[in-house]
Amino acid sequence: MKYHYDFAYFQKSADYVRSKIDFTPEIAIILGTGCGPLADEIEDAITIPYEEIPNFLVSTVSDHAGNLILGTLMGKKVICMNGRFHYYEGYDFEQLTAPVRLFKLLGVQKTILTNAAGAVNTEYAPGDVVILKDHLNFFNVCPTRGPNVDEIGPRFFDVSDIYTKDLRAIAFECAKRTELKVHEGVYMYFPGPHFETAAEIRAARILGADCVGMSTVPEALTAAHCSMPLLGISLMTNMATGVRDEKLCNGEVSETAHSVEEPFKEFIKDIIAHL
Ligand code: HPA
Repeated sequence: MKYHYDFAYFQKSADYVRSKIDFTPEIAIILGTGCGPLADEIEDAITIPYEEIPNFLVSTVSDHAGNLILGTLMGKKVICMNGRFHYYEGYDFEQLTAPVRLFKLLGVQKTILTNAAGAVNTEYAPGDVVILKDHLNFFNVCPTRGPNVDEIGPRFFDVSDIYTKDLRAIAFECAKRTELKVHEGVYMYFPGPHFETAAEIRAARILGADCVGMSTVPEALTAAHCSMPLLGISLMTNMATGVRDEKLCNGEVSETAHSVEEPFKEFIKDIIAHL
């Protein structure tokens, strides 16, 4: 074992962040591709670069920033991660527990995970939004593997309501007020960094996936481990491989995310106001 991710390890990050703020954040938000502009709206913002935080990780993806931003948004005390960590960057799965464990130790009560994803469901279109009701994780990995951190959660834990039903209901109420098309669906995790093959996407559809992506699931499992109420919101930036006869590129992902940036931001803000 390369590292020992015990309670003290995670506490060190939390102690540092706590020393920079004089409030308890209530809602945590991890911003996915194209969701960055939300961070600019946080009032009385305290920005902490990831590099400064002991035992934390640093973003290596060029279009992912690397700051923790704490402040007030829609009247709520929030902690926001502008830039997230992915397995494809080379981290161990165990390291991917760091963000949500930091939230938990700071006293956060609800977490929102946003991401860019490819649409598997052919009824969806780029620019649509999916409120996650569940996920498929067939890569045999859980970030809480290794010695269990008993202070944070139990060895074995339930994931039957991993994307909390009550929070999903709130998000659906907010969906009535957005111009975006909002669905409820299942996210399938692929570790990346390559996009999926057409055969993998056909298999994903047969298995019940509505969209696919390379993030969110490690954080969602970490949230379930520490009983953190959770909302997962995916922005469909492209149709997944093989749905259309065209090649996938990250440019399309960024372009679509950019094109619905404003209504997507307003949708997330409305959710935050009502959580
Ligand atoms: N596959 C995986 N991850 C993604 C995709 C996709 O098609 N689009 C955005 N993130």
